[in-house]
Amino acid sequence: FCCGPEPFMRAVREALAGLGYDMSRYHQESFTAEPWHAEDVPEDVIPDEQNHAEIAFALSGVTTRCSETDTILAAAKAAGLVIPSGCSMGICGTCKVRKTEGQVHMVHNGGITDEDVDEGFILACCSKPLGRVAVEA
Ligand code: FES
Repeated sequence: FCCGPEPFMRAVREALAGLGYDMSRYHQESFTAEPWHAEDVPEDVIPDEQNHAEIAFALSGVTTRCSETDTILAAAKAAGLVIPSGCSMGICGTCKVRKTEGQVHMVHNGGITDEDVDEGFILACCSKPLGRVAVEA
């Protein structure tokens, strides 16, 4: 039984098939989300590629600049930092970090609760910085 993002399940299928596993015994559960639609983005906070943002990763002591259309996770990777992640689609919640400063534009697929958001958490994979942002990472 296999469950996860499609690239993961494809890798598992290929590995098992390569090992000669009886694929009639393989079962999987799809792990997908509806694609984002422009109409899902609130009108008042659309990130602009031309606008620069700055992200301070407080625990690492690293500050980096990026575009407002980059995600916090992508900016961390570009800066050589590792924020644990999984689906990169706002589903699994693996990339949850606490935001301590600034605003982000976050469109997720259920990987974070309203209570987490109220406590300042964001999903790094689907949060885009608006101006200066600081996170505990
Ligand atoms: S990596 Fe899965 S929600 Fe961000």
